[in-house]
Amino acid sequence: MSARNVLVVYSGVYGHTHKVCEAMRPVLERHGAQVTLSALPDETPDPAAFDAILMGAAIRNGKHNPAVLEFIERHRGVLEDKPSAFFSINLVARKPHKNTPETNPYVKAFLQTSPWQPQQVGVFGGRLDYRRYRPFDRWVIRLIMWINKGPTDLDTQVDFTDWDAVARFAEDFAARMEGQAA
Ligand SMILES: Cc1cc2nc3c(=O)[nH]c(=O)nc-3n(C[C@H](O)[C@H](O)[C@H](O)COP(=O)(O)O)c2cc1C
Repeated sequence: MSARNVLVVYSGVYGHTHKVCEAMRPVLERHGAQVTLSALPDETPDPAAFDAILMGAAIRNGKHNPAVLEFIERHRGVLEDKPSAFFSINLVARKPHKNTPETNPYVKAFLQTSPWQPQQVGVFGGRLDYRRYRPFDRWVIRLIMWINKGPTDLDTQVDFTDWDAVARFAEDFAARMEGQAA
């Protein structure tokens, strides 16, 4: 396959979404892609200049960053025309019965509101690391964890991400990209 330019646009606050995107990079590169990572809500490159677009967003206080929907609304045509995919990262997805696009409430809500219906959708468990959070965030997320029967010990540092599933998602994306280029 000739080198294909992939734009990975992501939205997160504490670095885990970025880490998930970085974990996808070598998988895509093995398939001959050149990967550009770009964080929302900063200025992102024009997706029309890329061959494929991958979008990832973490949930914060029950929502993806509004910049995610703004990006989708602005670039809907490009997202629909090119190989593209979306994944969400959240702590609810740590629960086995809520870790698929069909069962995860945030992904379901996303698909109901997004004008773009991605060809490929994923959801991965996030990271819980109280020590990294600003004080207000620490208490908000602790309350959310208490309500959801998650870890509330402020020393908790736990990664709920299934890294094999992350790699499989990137493999599937690369395969679709190759298939659509053929
Ligand atoms: C302030 C804050 C609020 C969060 N709110 C939610 C939430 O409402 N539901 C949820 O499932 N996860 C929630 N999370 C978990 C994040 O989605 C998860 O930690 C993710 O890995 C964060 O990615 P980031 O490091 O890229 O910001 C929250 C995390 C933080 C820090």
